[in-house]
Amino acid sequence: MTATLLDGRSAAEEILGAIVGEVSRLDRPPHLAILRVGENEASRCYVERKCATAKRIGIRTTSRVLTASANLEEIIGQIDRWNGDSGIHGILVQMPLPDSAMHGAVFDAIDPKKDVDGFNPHNFGLLAQGRGGGFVPCTPNGIVHLLRRYGIATSGRHVVVIGRSTIVGRPLSLLLQSRGMDATVTQCHSKSENLREIAKSGHILISAAGSPGLVGGDWIGDGAVVVDVGQNFIADPSAPSGKRLVGDVDFAAALDRCSYVTPVPGGVGPLTVAMLMKNVLMARIANGC
Ligand code: GUN
Repeated sequence: MTATLLDGRSAAEEILGAIVGEVSRLDRPPHLAILRVGENEASRCYVERKCATAKRIGIRTTSRVLTASANLEEIIGQIDRWNGDSGIHGILVQMPLPDSAMHGAVFDAIDPKKDVDGFNPHNFGLLAQGRGGGFVPCTPNGIVHLLRRYGIATSGRHVVVIGRSTIVGRPLSLLLQSRGMDATVTQCHSKSENLREIAKSGHILISAAGSPGLVGGDWIGDGAVVVDVGQNFIADPSAPSGKRLVGDVDFAAALDRCSYVTPVPGGVGPLTVAMLMKNVLMARIANGC
């Protein structure tokens, strides 16, 4: 069997094309504020990509970088200034922070109406209760969009999600079991026993573990759908930068076993950015000015 690639780039371009049309009808563009803390190279790349995409489709961005030694007061001070600025429609704090113990307080500080990541407990709670009307985290929303675009059914099917982060695994599991998606979800994590057997039993296997090569061919059931959320930089002396981006899945092995698979890069990543832009547009429309 040779799998069909789930092409995140073209799916993302369709979404961005629709947003351009809507943005052009507004009297003032949507405005996204992005905060980055410390010098994490991957985070810097992701934020640059978000800003470049926003610019291309007419969304304004303001970004601020704080040093790794910034304390919670400084971080929340910046968020509060953006919360109170009616010219800012969406706020994003790039994760992870140098001190992960701050994550909760930072999620709490962002005004739910500007929380385009959907990590504030208000928006997360709406998702957990199966209620609409809140912002849905971008990567899970992108994955669901990609499955739908390729006509991959989730209702009644067993979806195995590896990873329980606030950014991907946890909200993704909630979204997949919501009404309309109706999947039977098994949420796995680093302490799960028999991970390989559980993974293999999934009609759809989604890995968001951040562990290169974790999912080998023998983790994938025949004809399964494989979504690789991993974004791991590994050393590669033959690459100009000395490193290469890979996912969690042994891609060559997956191609032979599954029905559909996302490549890395070019799978989930572009959809995360597209869904962020969609949330920023929603924030601008809902909150005006
Ligand atoms: N780090 C990795 N993915 C994300 C994301 O979707 N949002 C934020 N804020 N940080 C991230």
